[in-house]
Amino acid sequence: MTGRVPVIAIDGPSGSGKGTIAELVASHLGWHLLDSGALYRIVAAVALTRQIPLDDETALAAMAAGLEIRFDSGAVLVDGEDLTGEIRTEPVSRAASQVAAIGAVRAAILEAQRAMRRPPGLVADGRDMGTVVFPDAELKIYLDASALVRAERRYNQLKNKGLSVNFRALLANLEDRDARDKERAVSPLVPAPDALIIDSTDLGIEEVLDRVLAEVRIRHLN
Ligand code: C5P
Repeated sequence: MTGRVPVIAIDGPSGSGKGTIAELVASHLGWHLLDSGALYRIVAAVALTRQIPLDDETALAAMAAGLEIRFDSGAVLVDGEDLTGEIRTEPVSRAASQVAAIGAVRAAILEAQRAMRRPPGLVADGRDMGTVVFPDAELKIYLDASALVRAERRYNQLKNKGLSVNFRALLANLEDRDARDKERAVSPLVPAPDALIIDSTDLGIEEVLDRVLAEVRIRHLN
């Protein structure tokens, strides 16, 4: 191993289970965790609150660069305010994929993401972890699943939180976001050439976790 801090990049579309897997892998290894989607969600939530138009690239990038963000045992604090619940709502999800398509917004938070690479290691979850943010990651996973199964998982998650949801609207929203993430010009959602692709459509969390941990052992990262 070189002296640098190892990174495991876990990318994939919404609802593929990458957030859960990233959390489990990080806790198994005792490594840091970067939920990069939360950063785009925060930018979107603040834009909605401050009524910054979602196509005002300059204002959005300036706002993103100036935010003081803290992740504190599961809570998300932005300029001292707790936005943990707010960033997970559907309007914010939709706005997040809009602001994430703006190159200047992505550039504004790039270094903050790389600064999360601290010993003993980092598990980074997102869309461009293996392609753009950490192209030298020691292990790259691309976690996929059919849109229907991903929408079902999200539906159950929201229901369990007591939120009322319309399945068809949720599926349409997810397919919309997928298309925006895959088709955008900057950092599109695409597997890195050296990523291991895991399709979790018919796999449970435990099975996916086992596969990822097997790769961790093969690479002597644990
Ligand atoms: O992963 P999550 O669903 O929380 O991400 C919210 C949105 O942020 C995604 O729909 C995507 O548009 C964007 N995103 C991104 N690049 C990342 C992580 C998230 O563009 N690395």
